[in-house]
Amino acid sequence: MCLATPAKIVGFNQDKILIEKDGATMEVSAFLLPKAKIGDWILYVNDLAIKKIDAEEAREILRLVESPRNKVKTELLSGKFKKIIEKAHQNDLNKGEIIYLLNSEGMEKDALLAEADITRRAFIKDFICIHGIIEFSNYCENDCAYCGLRSANGAIERYRMSIDEIKETAKQAAVEKGYKLLVLQSGEDNFYTDDMLVELIKQIKSVCRVFIFMSCGERGFECYKKMKNAGASGALLRFETSSQSLFTKIHPQGKNLENRIEHLRFLKELGYFITTGSLIGLPGQTIEDLADDILLIAPRAHMVSMGPFIPCDNTPMENCPAGDPEMNLKMIAVLRLLMPTARIPVTTALETLLGEDGRKRALAAGANALMMNLTPKKYRSLYKIYPGRFFDNDSLWQKYGLFKYEESYKMLEERMAKEIKRK
Ligand code: 5AD
Repeated sequence: MCLATPAKIVGFNQDKILIEKDGATMEVSAFLLPKAKIGDWILYVNDLAIKKIDAEEAREILRLVESPRNKVKTELLSGKFKKIIEKAHQNDLNKGEIIYLLNSEGMEKDALLAEADITRRAFIKDFICIHGIIEFSNYCENDCAYCGLRSANGAIERYRMSIDEIKETAKQAAVEKGYKLLVLQSGEDNFYTDDMLVELIKQIKSVCRVFIFMSCGERGFECYKKMKNAGASGALLRFETSSQSLFTKIHPQGKNLENRIEHLRFLKELGYFITTGSLIGLPGQTIEDLADDILLIAPRAHMVSMGPFIPCDNTPMENCPAGDPEMNLKMIAVLRLLMPTARIPVTTALETLLGEDGRKRALAAGANALMMNLTPKKYRSLYKIYPGRFFDNDSLWQKYGLFKYEESYKMLEERMAKEIKRK
């Protein structure tokens, strides 16, 4: 679940291992590695040495996760910018100040991203959490103008996974690979009755220890209550945009923003770990709208999910330009400053637009989690919310980001409970 950091052993102090970190020596507990010796490379999480790795792999991980740590010359930044950053740390930004940060370019943009990176490190250390997503059905009863799964799109092949298939996929992820948090996502598909979803959650929970986050749209209070009672921990539901008029425009049939926000309200009341966010770069969306998105997310969410809009063929928005990934990075950074301990995963849409370096850049802008696609291969390309979705084999990330230790499950449980309590 949490990506550990590689380090080289430089000495021992009784039962502790000494490692070098940023030029200084640091002590970590050695009880999992009784035979380690000076010069070995290890992975550690917090102050616990987890396992030995070879030097080559350690360097490769460092290359993947190291952020550029831009040198920002603070004396060249404007007084206004510095004042706004100071206020952001006190969770006290007004809309105008958020707009200022979202408009930042050049040196001030670099400084914003660097500040978010430092904030992430200060509050949550070098943790990068790895979560999995299983997209279990691409049927959808809605007709959202941006989404390739919209019901009016007759050009995609539809699939539904059976309860057994979803359970097996989840079990394999948790038991064999060490995933601790799985998002189960689908279009709004009422083929799966409340009882079926409840059964699914119960079955998964009975075969493996894993946190389940449901992402199946507006299913109403009763359904979410039953799913929570069955063992679901979190819910992922984006509000897509805080602009009333834009929301109505892109959701042609019967959807409204109040209802979506009402859903988020009662999900929180039910004790869910709330994941929400918006689409960045919708046609007609203004910087004011994006600032409002931030103001909507910050007080509500425990985890943020936002990504750039990507035009999808066979939708009414197929010819619209894609959202700006650089704006997405700035949005992540502002939210990290406002929500220092929140979970902010790098979304696949952002990775799709930024390419190779996307993960690294988003992590260096304050994100702290990755979402791996665990949908069985035969369905993966059919879950086409937008084209050209980024996938990689994630071999190295998964190899080093997933642990089956009891401690890492407990750690996640404690962190989520703390985050829920905080809001
Ligand atoms: N581009 C980017 N994200 C999209 N989503 C749907 N369609 C697109 C698109 N064309 C996102 C929505 C939804 C999530 C599951 O996928 O924000 O909430």
